[in-house]
Amino acid sequence: MKILMVCLGNICRSPMADGLLRQKVANLNLDVAVDSAGTANYHVGAAPDKRMIQTGSQNGTPIDFLRARQFTRQDFHDFDYILVMDHANYRNVCALAPDENAKAKVQLLLNYLPEENIEEVPDPYYGTAADFQFVYDLLDRATASFISQLQKQTN
Ligand code: 4NP
Repeated sequence: MKILMVCLGNICRSPMADGLLRQKVANLNLDVAVDSAGTANYHVGAAPDKRMIQTGSQNGTPIDFLRARQFTRQDFHDFDYILVMDHANYRNVCALAPDENAKAKVQLLLNYLPEENIEEVPDPYYGTAADFQFVYDLLDRATASFISQLQKQTN
């Protein structure tokens, strides 16, 4: 199974989602590959935002080794699930989908937290340390829920 996390810049939300999911699948010894990408090309080759790295490290989830890349059409072939952070990401990724089967791989990550009244992971780029912590906590819960649903499906 291969999972791709997608946001706009691939330096805040999707690398944190990637790091959290990697850590969980490693702890559970699951055969799941995880990566992340951005719909934009502004930060290609860059490490995650320093504030996201710091929030991850303070909470026990290192992401400093990740590097930003842009989402491409090839990702529809390479990944089983394409989990996006917000509605704009959803539109931008779906606009590149070659067919309905590819489009069906794209979902809002927060669909995995149906009981929480929030559909989008807010972009913390112009926010405060508290905004980065809020994003971390949301992504931690969403990735945990995703993994438990994946395990139900495959067991
Ligand atoms: P991300 O946050 O999509 O969570 O990585 C952003 C990072 C950079 C920019 C926008 C959003 N930017 O405009 O440079």
